[in-house]
Amino acid sequence: MLTPLGEPARRPHNACNQKKQLESFNPDSPISAMLSYRHAFHAGNHADVLKHVVLVESLRHLLRKATPLWYVDTHAGVGEYRLDPKPPAGQAEWLNGIARLWDEPVPPAALAPYLGLVRALNPDGKLRRYPGSPRLAAELLRAADRNLDKVWLYELQPSDFPLLEKSFRGCRNVRCTAADGFAAVRGLLPPAPRRGLVFIDPSYELQSDYRRLVEALEEALQRFETGCYLVWYPIVQRAEALELPARLLRLGSPSGPARWLRAELRVRAPPAGGYGLYGSGMFVINPPWTLPATLQDLLPWLARRLALDERASQSLEYQLP
Ligand SMILES: C[S@@+](CC[C@H](N)C(=O)[O-])C[C@H]1O[C@@H](n2cnc3c(N)ncnc32)[C@H](O)[C@@H]1O
Repeated sequence: MLTPLGEPARRPHNACNQKKQLESFNPDSPISAMLSYRHAFHAGNHADVLKHVVLVESLRHLLRKATPLWYVDTHAGVGEYRLDPKPPAGQAEWLNGIARLWDEPVPPAALAPYLGLVRALNPDGKLRRYPGSPRLAAELLRAADRNLDKVWLYELQPSDFPLLEKSFRGCRNVRCTAADGFAAVRGLLPPAPRRGLVFIDPSYELQSDYRRLVEALEEALQRFETGCYLVWYPIVQRAEALELPARLLRLGSPSGPARWLRAELRVRAPPAGGYGLYGSGMFVINPPWTLPATLQDLLPWLARRLALDERASQSLEYQLP
């Protein structure tokens, strides 16, 4: 159970409620594995920094055009998180993530929009709360103040979904649904205004997430070829994870999507003989044309700032004909 801000709490979650929330879920894998993942323990870590910088930059770019836009978040989490000021040893992920950027006297200009949104959530200047992707997107859309934009949020975790819903109660253009995001995105596309950003950020707790991601994207591209798709993936020593970027580059046809960008950030050397996360990547289909230049400047800085050892590195590749 998490508190309204996604803070780990002691009370066990209500099993009846859990059953109700799960009625719409029928994947081909055991649900118990997915339920063990709580993003609150990882909020604000290096992976969140990378994915949220790319998300904020992409959404800001799309919002420059006056026509309505849909934002679809297939794996939404809670929305925002309370950062534990004294995390137990080994759980200090945000201290090696957003905390390393927070006090930077002269951060790169390209970081300002993202940092500004984190600062807005911490108006007293103390870093205590961290915005998840739904909060970042909703704030950008609210600031743009356009009536016809819509935010679609999907979250399957029975304890997290009510917190997500509560956090956006009363927001007219935000729809939260307790459903499988991989399946839901198919039904939603193409978006009514024919403009949309789809953010796909699975926890990859289930091995089937890798396959389901590729299948969902194949179908999404058939339905909405011109959409902007942002996919986060872990860099870990697992066969499915290592193969994923190559599979993404072949989406749709052997030659793959025409326009794509791939940004990776590794904060340390691969753990010897282990599966631990040592970096992550973002694969963007139909990226904003401004994204390569923004990341070209920012990624080397982030790799230095977030480095946990001398093997930290970054890479950026793209094809934008
Ligand atoms: C990495 S977290 C998402 C973090 C969030 N996107 C952010 O940036 O703040 C992944 C979330 O997906 C949820 N989840 C896992 N499988 C799902 C599925 N098939 N459909 C919807 N949500 C799922 C998990 O419970 C977890 O909250």
